[in-house]
Amino acid sequence: MKVAVLANLKEDAPVSLEDPPGRWDDLDDLVTVEAILDSLQRLGHNARYFPATLDSIDELVRFSPDLCFNSSEGHYGDSREAQMPAILDILRIPYTCAGVLGMSLAHNKAMAKRLFKAANIPTANFFVVENDTRIPNHNLRYPLFVKPAVEGSSIGINESARVNNEDELVRQINWVRSQVDSLILVEEYIKGREFTIGILGDEVLPIVEIVSPTGFYSASQKEDLNSEVYRVCPAELTPQQTTEFQSIAMHAMQVLELKDVCRMDMRMDETGNPYVLEVNPIPLMYPDPLQASLVYAADAAGYSYTDIVKKIIDSAAKRWNLIID
Ligand SMILES: Nc1ncnc2c1ncn2[C@@H]1O[C@H](COP(=O)(O)OP(=O)(O)O)[C@@H](O)[C@H]1O
Ligand SMILES: [Mg+2]
Repeated sequence: MKVAVLANLKEDAPVSLEDPPGRWDDLDDLVTVEAILDSLQRLGHNARYFPATLDSIDELVRFSPDLCFNSSEGHYGDSREAQMPAILDILRIPYTCAGVLGMSLAHNKAMAKRLFKAANIPTANFFVVENDTRIPNHNLRYPLFVKPAVEGSSIGINESARVNNEDELVRQINWVRSQVDSLILVEEYIKGREFTIGILGDEVLPIVEIVSPTGFYSASQKEDLNSEVYRVCPAELTPQQTTEFQSIAMHAMQVLELKDVCRMDMRMDETGNPYVLEVNPIPLMYPDPLQASLVYAADAAGYSYTDIVKKIIDSAAKRWNLIID
């Protein structure tokens, strides 16, 4: 097949002086795109990279791919992860991962949580702070956790994200506001263990536990390759807990209409209750398993990087009725 890899590279990010630290952290590194291209070529495909921007569209149409391997995070707007899927829908070119609706739902954590509540998928109680900083009346119990409703990579999550009283809450909301232009999500802090669960096609991967010395995973820990955060896979859970968490992950993927691959962040409170934090519709595929939980989990399941790429392509090809040659 002819496969176009679409991505937004960190090195091409439209950096500006007003950007808060970490503004472009969820974009791809060149090594990731190279690893995906290499895998596609090993699988016998004619693969080419295109920056996921409007400037590439003419050339993309000339290349006339059978399928796009979509890793585009986009640059601007709440729709940024949905922008390439929308363009590809107009062009009638098939692509991997979620469509416009799935990308939009997963991108907005508050919207995703409303759907989880409606579908009885456990998620922490929450409220949203709109553009003024007024805190709505609520009955949530402290400690609470404050984060942007529409960002990723722990952008807008620092060491003070967990707050114990209203003073701290107001201070933290003001800090997030100074960092990112986003609705703010305030939810009950889930004290306990943290897990992340990858799904490849229709297969749930072994569960990864994320162990962080501070109890939660802040932006500075995600950036610092030498931080004390480490991963364990398969996580030490009972078979019943493993099955329960994996089926919650599958259900969350279906509810948000995600396709081909995704990664769910979850926590478990001290009495063993699970909670979905958020879902990543385009999980990081950095080729070093130690830097990317999806790759780490796939590795534990015995899958190589090329196997991951193949499973994503196979899943998408099936959905779009493509014959792989
Ligand atoms: N309700 C919560 N309770 C405890 N920790 C949380 C909660 N929400 C987020 N966190 C911590 O913050 C990290 C980042 O939050 P997450 O919702 O996964 O956003 P991101 O898109 O930035 O990864 C999580 O990995 C977790 O450690
Ligand atoms: Mg996360």
